[in-house]
Amino acid sequence: MKQQSQDHQEPVDVVIMAAGKGTRMKSSLPKVLHRLGGRALVSHVIDAAMAIGARNIVVVTGHGASDVEAALAGSAPGAHLRFARQVPQLGTGHALQQAAPLLPDDGTVVVLSGDVPLIGADTLRALVAQSVARRLALLTIRTNDPTGYGRILRARGPQYPDGDGDGEVQAIVEQKDATESQREIDEVYSGVMALPARLLKGWLTRLDNKNAQGEYYLTDVVGFATIDGVPVVAHRIDDAVQVAGVNTPAQLAALERALQRRRADALLEQGVRLADPTRIDVRGTLVCESDVEIDINCIFEGAVSLGAGVRVGAHCIVANARIETGAVIEPFTHIDGEKAGVTVGASSRVGPFARLRPGARLGPEVHIGNFVEVKNSTLGAGAKANHLAYLGDATVGARVNYGAGSITANYDGANKHRTVIGDDVHVGSNCVLVAPVTIGAGGTVGGGTTVSKSTAPGTLTIARARQISYADWQRPKKV
Ligand code: UD1
Ligand code: CA
Repeated sequence: MKQQSQDHQEPVDVVIMAAGKGTRMKSSLPKVLHRLGGRALVSHVIDAAMAIGARNIVVVTGHGASDVEAALAGSAPGAHLRFARQVPQLGTGHALQQAAPLLPDDGTVVVLSGDVPLIGADTLRALVAQSVARRLALLTIRTNDPTGYGRILRARGPQYPDGDGDGEVQAIVEQKDATESQREIDEVYSGVMALPARLLKGWLTRLDNKNAQGEYYLTDVVGFATIDGVPVVAHRIDDAVQVAGVNTPAQLAALERALQRRRADALLEQGVRLADPTRIDVRGTLVCESDVEIDINCIFEGAVSLGAGVRVGAHCIVANARIETGAVIEPFTHIDGEKAGVTVGASSRVGPFARLRPGARLGPEVHIGNFVEVKNSTLGAGAKANHLAYLGDATVGARVNYGAGSITANYDGANKHRTVIGDDVHVGSNCVLVAPVTIGAGGTVGGGTTVSKSTAPGTLTIARARQISYADWQRPKKV
């Protein structure tokens, strides 16, 4: 009976250390708010914590605390997200001392770093499983370049032989405190551990800062476990990306490439045809139906969905948009729905060099051509604006042809007004539709017309100076 209750999985409480300054980023932005795949580093870590069903998530903040807290407020719906301030920052052990009062005694604590963003939920689950029955579980990895990391000291000599190297873990020694031979050890601590809260709390009271950096090292708890006879297990993984920390812009850029490559591989795996998996950036969620083709150098941001058979040409930016079945986005098109979203209807064609802004809603088979901007406007089935035009705050009917160079004058300097263009209207080139105004269905607006009064259905409207030709006019001559 006793054995059973010991092995039972306790609730998990996560601590994310995010108080450090990140000096080597050489940035005024707190390190954990730098973006990876379009989201703050620490947000990825919160995702991992949520994925393992954390009961509490405690983020230790210090450097830039109010910015970090403001950026994360409300970012973990359903989880219990709290902050523990650490001022000044006296080391990772000191960070955990600040979090400890927020950690219930009955849980398993998982310690994560806000600057190690790609830790996998499966890895964390496996680590937590290793910590049951009052054990300290460390996530470790072997690396060719252990510089800077805490080294794992094992029972059978620090330089455990290549191969199994299975001596019991006895302590972690930090780079700056390590002897020459300890620095040769290639098994390093990832910064992630899982352990029962009660053990952690006891050990935190025993930390001191008598070491090369004068810091309270969380890693000293490993030595206490050994002294107390608590088993220490090293859960060693091979996937360096999961434990890669971000300390410099170069590391951030390298990790961005690694993340993007993973996302590209996942898209390929599900059947998306990428012209080149090394030349796509997904900075949000990209959902693709079957037979989607994406040419090189496209960037997807926020929530984007591409329907079956959609083709996206080279060098497009698509953000917060739904592109429906069979639509084609030609090269160099910029689409950003921001909060309002953009919809491109089935079999529509947009671009090259088009711009769709928030609230652009294109029906099926709409054509938007080069240097056309559409904002907060609805276009009915088969409507076309093929060249050099602006549609803002407009309701455009089906089959409308909107001529080159025509614009809606939607803003009077203080307020925005709506333009309504009925079905089957033909707007010539270089027209100005001064809103609020309605062009009745089936009407025609002659090229160069400024429309300032609504027109009746089926009428031809022309408002421009009458053309005069002078037969006997002489060009000025150079004197
Ligand atoms: C730490 C580990 C080291 C491990 C490495 C893995 C210690 C003493 N060392 O070293 O064994 O190999 O991570 O990446 O734990 N932080 C705070 N408050 C502080 C200090 C740090 O919140 O007072 C946060 C940082 O913001 C960061 C994390 O803790 O998110 C790790 O701190 P960092 O200074 O980067 O530790 P390392 O020297 O990398
Ligand atoms: Ca670090």
